[in-house]
Amino acid sequence: MTKTMAEHISVMLNESVDMLVTDTNGLYVDGTFGRGGHTRLVLDRLDQGRLLGFDKDPVAIGYGESLEQEDSRFSIVQDSFANMAEHINAVFGVDRVDGVMMDLGVSSPQIDDAERGFSFMNDGPLDMRMNPDKGLSAAQWIATVGEKDLADVMYQYGEERFSRRIAKAICEYRSHTPILTTLQLSKIVAEANPAWEKGKNPATRAFQGIRIHINNELGDLEVGLDAAAEALKVGGRLAVISFHSLEDRIVKRFMKLKAKGPELPRHLPIQNAHLDIKFKTVGKAIKPSQSEVSENVRSRSAVLRVLERVSD
Ligand SMILES: C[S@@+](CC[C@H](N)C(=O)[O-])C[C@H]1O[C@@H](n2cnc3c(N)ncnc32)[C@H](O)[C@@H]1O
Repeated sequence: MTKTMAEHISVMLNESVDMLVTDTNGLYVDGTFGRGGHTRLVLDRLDQGRLLGFDKDPVAIGYGESLEQEDSRFSIVQDSFANMAEHINAVFGVDRVDGVMMDLGVSSPQIDDAERGFSFMNDGPLDMRMNPDKGLSAAQWIATVGEKDLADVMYQYGEERFSRRIAKAICEYRSHTPILTTLQLSKIVAEANPAWEKGKNPATRAFQGIRIHINNELGDLEVGLDAAAEALKVGGRLAVISFHSLEDRIVKRFMKLKAKGPELPRHLPIQNAHLDIKFKTVGKAIKPSQSEVSENVRSRSAVLRVLERVSD
């Protein structure tokens, strides 16, 4: 296990990079640079190969720019991995690459820095944006969103079953006092939440839902998976690490669709054997080892899935 640049412990580092790198002179993409843990190991494995990193977060980009100075095979771009196609072309001068890595969600330093507004444990401005220069902060969104939409976000993206009650409490509170800090929100949620789950902060699900909405995480994932699969050369691989069931469901369905085609009713004359399948899944879903989970609790829900292009 490597602790990268002080604060983030990379999850399933060797497992994912072993799966990803098939050509030491190839072109690679790290869609979620973070603190560069996966990127550095990929670069260690490469000879003349190159790697293009993405992150939305300006602090992560700062780390990426330092690495650009150290290693000329590496470039970093501040954008969503959903937009990878145009940058791959601009940086590498071609459209196809040998591998794309995605290690989804937020990094530990994003959560740990109270000023970023992701934490329900430490007080800070209610922001939650991976890129604080783009879009609405959580505080701005919560100030104006309709009660039903707020409940839907917490229900769909946070799987919070008391979303309606919690949304009502938030809307009542904001009618007399603006909600501007993380602890303000977590207290309102905790008071409105009638069934605290054992070992879980009562604001966990509401915060997850709002964070996913604010950063369009699932929308970017759907677009990014398509962009990554499109960008793969024959033999190229897409390795994705997800951290919760909503993400993993999207990744699993996407890879199954690519590798097996759509599920067709049995009585139809066309069967999947006749469809133009260009991908295969590589192995089964991989989970972190027991020793990794005991050393890094954040890894406990992680799932790694790999897709490979087999024809053009
Ligand atoms: C779990 S961390 C990645 C950690 C990294 N693999 C490492 O070992 O240091 C996820 C990172 O991806 C970034 N991120 C999440 N979604 C993104 C997206 N759609 N496009 C670009 N970056 C994204 C976050 O800002 C965060 O820095």
